[in-house]
Amino acid sequence: MVEVRYESVTKQYENGFEAVKGLDLKINDGEFLVLLGPSGCGKSTTLRMLAGLEDVSAGNIMIDGAKVNDLPPGARELGMVFQSYALYPHMSIGENLSFGLRMAKGDNRLSDEEIVKRVQETAKLMELEDQLDKKPKQLSGGQRQRVALGRALIRQPKVLLMDEPLSNLDAELRHQMRAEIRRLHEALGTTTVYVTHDQIEAMTLADRIAILNQGELQQHGAPLDVYNNPVNDFVKGFLCKHIDEIVETANNLFPKE
Ligand SMILES: Nc1ncnc2c1ncn2[C@@H]1O[C@H](COP(=O)(O)OP(=O)(O)O)[C@@H](O)[C@H]1O
Ligand SMILES: [Mg+2]
Repeated sequence: MVEVRYESVTKQYENGFEAVKGLDLKINDGEFLVLLGPSGCGKSTTLRMLAGLEDVSAGNIMIDGAKVNDLPPGARELGMVFQSYALYPHMSIGENLSFGLRMAKGDNRLSDEEIVKRVQETAKLMELEDQLDKKPKQLSGGQRQRVALGRALIRQPKVLLMDEPLSNLDAELRHQMRAEIRRLHEALGTTTVYVTHDQIEAMTLADRIAILNQGELQQHGAPLDVYNNPVNDFVKGFLCKHIDEIVETANNLFPKE
């Protein structure tokens, strides 16, 4: 059971700007939640507070019923994938995957045998079995992104956090990786919080979407529920109008007989 809760969470940056305002949101065990909204609405700030990369100004963040506000990132047992995923260029793919596990200290340290086993399992899951001895520069963009994802998953995180992980990829690859991410979620069932500004990406990946505007949660619900019942003009304009336009364009490009 890994449930995440934001309880009246506010983030005020040092310059006084309030990027997140009184956020109340629960992410259920095993759920794939997408935080969606326009650039600058507070998505990354929301995610970074959960990761422990930003302090919380007010309110609480709970993981598994325990308050984590003061826990350092490394103690939160989260996996993270960002837009700019830096792989270690001089290490092999296998070493990149196992790096976090090899650096762990004390009780968290797995045996060498267990680490080898985890690398093999993760490589199989990510279809990277034949790439383990290569260096990152020998891999395609899509394969490198799979390594970044595998590196987050190999630690069997309580929660998987992704911040616009596909936005550097071209359209076709983005499409493939979207399907891949959803497949992995079906297979692993890890509680996931995924940030994007892309409406179609949100609709196709999410169990539930949470729409933010100017630091305030507007609406959350199953993608089609929100699409069919937008609570205000912002959601209607940002989600529904936009998607209707995309569908209309597609219908014009590929008219039905
Ligand atoms: N360190 C900071 N200091 C002041 N304002 C910031 C800081 N980081 C982000 N912001 C502002 O907070 C708002 C939300 O940023 P962010 O969470 O990155 O938005 P998003 O990920 O939705 O594009 C933006 O207006 C941004 O300019
Ligand atoms: Mg962002």
